[in-house]
Amino acid sequence: MSKLTVFDHPLIQHKLTIIRDKRIGTKEFREIVDEIASLMAYEVTRDLPTMDIEVETPVAKTTKKTLAGKKLAIVPILRAGLGMVDGIMKLVPAARIGHIGMYRDEKSLEPVEYFVKLPEDIDQREVLVVDPMLATGGSAIMAIDALKKRGAKTIKLITIVSAPIGVENVQAAHPDVDIFTAGLDDYLNDEGYIVPGLGDAGDRLFGTR
Ligand code: URA
Repeated sequence: MSKLTVFDHPLIQHKLTIIRDKRIGTKEFREIVDEIASLMAYEVTRDLPTMDIEVETPVAKTTKKTLAGKKLAIVPILRAGLGMVDGIMKLVPAARIGHIGMYRDEKSLEPVEYFVKLPEDIDQREVLVVDPMLATGGSAIMAIDALKKRGAKTIKLITIVSAPIGVENVQAAHPDVDIFTAGLDDYLNDEGYIVPGLGDAGDRLFGTR
């Protein structure tokens, strides 16, 4: 079974509470999603391998740690996932970015895939799939299916708010994919919204309705 990490860092919790507030406008919502994504990326990348290199300071030669060069790919699920990309890229600027387009059929609530564009060497990269909301898990499961079909082997899922059923469904479909989230909420309502959640993340990020 994959691991679920719910970040209890005070800064992440504080910022998440701010964006839950329905009075927060698009600009602030987008900025804070970006900050949360950076803070989450800091924790998610904690196990990146390092190696020793020599460095000469103004004072002495020494041997210190550097990243061992494990390649990363960030794959936002369109469109709300886009809101998390820049925040992660600030920490890992050499990462490549893939895109997976899904929309949720408003009647069936099932995800429909319409676009997949990934780095060519996706099979050699650790892939961070990002989507602010993990509701039923349908989009995340389809996105991970699409990645595995194209050779991706090491995949992590990063979401800001998750419903318990979404976590359960992803863990059942992809027991090898660890899930990282800032908030594990109560349930999904009949309209497919996470409760208490923060509403439609895509609409709030992009100022649409
Ligand atoms: N997608 C969203 O943007 N919000 C929800 O609450 C559920 C799915």
